[in-house]
Amino acid sequence: MELHLLLHSALMHAMAALVVLVYIPLSAPVKLLVRAFVKPLTKEDLRGKVVLITGASSGIGEELAYQYAKEDACLALVARRKQALKSVAAAALERGAPDALVFPADVTDPEQSRSAVEAAVAHYGKLNHLVANAGLWSSCAFDQVTNISAFTKLMDVNFWGLCLPNLLCSAAPQGQQRETHRVFLSSGDGGHVEDGLLQCKQIKET
Ligand SMILES: NC(=O)c1ccc[n+]([C@@H]2O[C@H](COP(=O)([O-])OP(=O)(O)OC[C@H]3O[C@@H](n4cnc5c(N)ncnc54)[C@H](OP(=O)(O)O)[C@@H]3O)[C@@H](O)[C@H]2O)c1
Repeated sequence: MELHLLLHSALMHAMAALVVLVYIPLSAPVKLLVRAFVKPLTKEDLRGKVVLITGASSGIGEELAYQYAKEDACLALVARRKQALKSVAAAALERGAPDALVFPADVTDPEQSRSAVEAAVAHYGKLNHLVANAGLWSSCAFDQVTNISAFTKLMDVNFWGLCLPNLLCSAAPQGQQRETHRVFLSSGDGGHVEDGLLQCKQIKET
């Protein structure tokens, strides 16, 4: 066998041995150690932080409210259904949120969005996180669209419903606080159009 083939074979065997003898046995314990000791140091302390979540009355927004509640964050819950928001607020309080207020609003309406953001900031005096989660799902092929005005609603919720609370929280006076962390709920493959399908995710991608 030629020298370079021998070297190549030896290198491949050495790499395989490294993976089997070093990487596989060590990767799991190293991950556990990072999770136990490094993550707690880099994770934000949410105790007493104020989080406004749009679309908090159901689905992902509701679950996010509970996750923030477990971290002792104060909640401002926004959506159109007041009763559903109240139930989420009650459940969030049970899970540890020090305070959970509901601000019923349609996020496509600039005045309702303004009232919700301003009322939350007026009550808490600050807004540390804004989670722009409210959104609608829809999917159909371009050639099946019979009522184009239905997409105006989709655009209003998925685009303006995301922009408005953001613009408003930038404008709202928040005392000494300078920065609000912003989380946007998008859709995984919004940039990809399949077979003429017009979907909520393309609107979110704009
Ligand atoms: N579930 C998924 O697999 C998935 C995948 C990709 C992206 N997403 C995105 O994740 C977000 C949440 O999805 P989800 O599955 O949890 O949806 P969902 O269960 O249908 O919840 C949507 C939420 O948005 C609120 N909402 C809708 N229109 C609103 C409006 N005009 N003003 C205020 N609130 C409004 C609804 O509350 P009211 O009806 O009370 O107003 C509800 O709380 C959406 O932005 C969605 O596009 C979800």
